[in-house]
Amino acid sequence: MQSNLPNLHLGIIMDGNGRWATARGLPRGKGHEAGVSAIRPIVEAAPDHGIGTLTLYAFSSDNWRRPETEVAGLMALMQGYLGDETSAFARQGIRLSVVGRRDRIGPKLARLIARSEAETAKGQRLHLRIAFDYSARERLLAAAREGHGAMTERAFARLVTGDGAPDLDLLLRTGGEKRLSDFLLWESAYAELFFTGRMWPDFSPADLAGVMREFSRRQRRFGGLAGPAAAAPGLTRAA
Ligand code: IPE
Ligand code: IPE
Ligand code: MG
Repeated sequence: MQSNLPNLHLGIIMDGNGRWATARGLPRGKGHEAGVSAIRPIVEAAPDHGIGTLTLYAFSSDNWRRPETEVAGLMALMQGYLGDETSAFARQGIRLSVVGRRDRIGPKLARLIARSEAETAKGQRLHLRIAFDYSARERLLAAAREGHGAMTERAFARLVTGDGAPDLDLLLRTGGEKRLSDFLLWESAYAELFFTGRMWPDFSPADLAGVMREFSRRQRRFGGLAGPAAAAPGLTRAA
């Protein structure tokens, strides 16, 4: 089934955990726990929608500004998540990568990430990327620092993404805010944008199916023209 499907890249800003918890009289940490539980059904549903790469924004570099206890809770959840899911990912053909800085998250979590990535490296069904201590600006800056001489757009993209992940096809943000919060700025150049008021812990595979239906109705032009006129690749900026 998968082979006839497009190889889409979906990015999700999983926002709204805190408000989800507050609305229920619960501490914010409970919202993050519920947010972690909401991930698995979406990961499992993604390949059936032709999604080959799924990037989930789990912790931004600016999230260090939150209270120490909330940050510690998020670190512990990430650790638990990788511990719980890695062997299932390996069985299901899911390749896991974590994009973002590794030098501030603590050696234990950094080791666990490296182990999860190594154990799932052969996965072909879905490339699951978790953005953790991630800042798109920081990635752009790192790429600019690494690049030198006659840099091509393709080579720069390789540096920005860190792993050569393709451009984003869809960018989805839950939780009602309409902003990017430093997520995948370069990769979103021609992404279709989706904003939903649904809080992340409530986001379900049925919601994902709705987004994918809407995506299939959108006309993507990439600066060209729609319809047969778009058939010729035409002149693009040098790759
Ligand atoms: C997203 O939910 C998860 C992280 C940023 C770690 P929030 O914690 O931002 O939830 P709200 O936006 O406060 O509801
Ligand atoms: C973006 O959400 C980061 C994640 C979802 C991990 P934030 O809740 O941190 O973003 P702002 O502060 O509303 O822009
Ligand atoms: Mg938020």
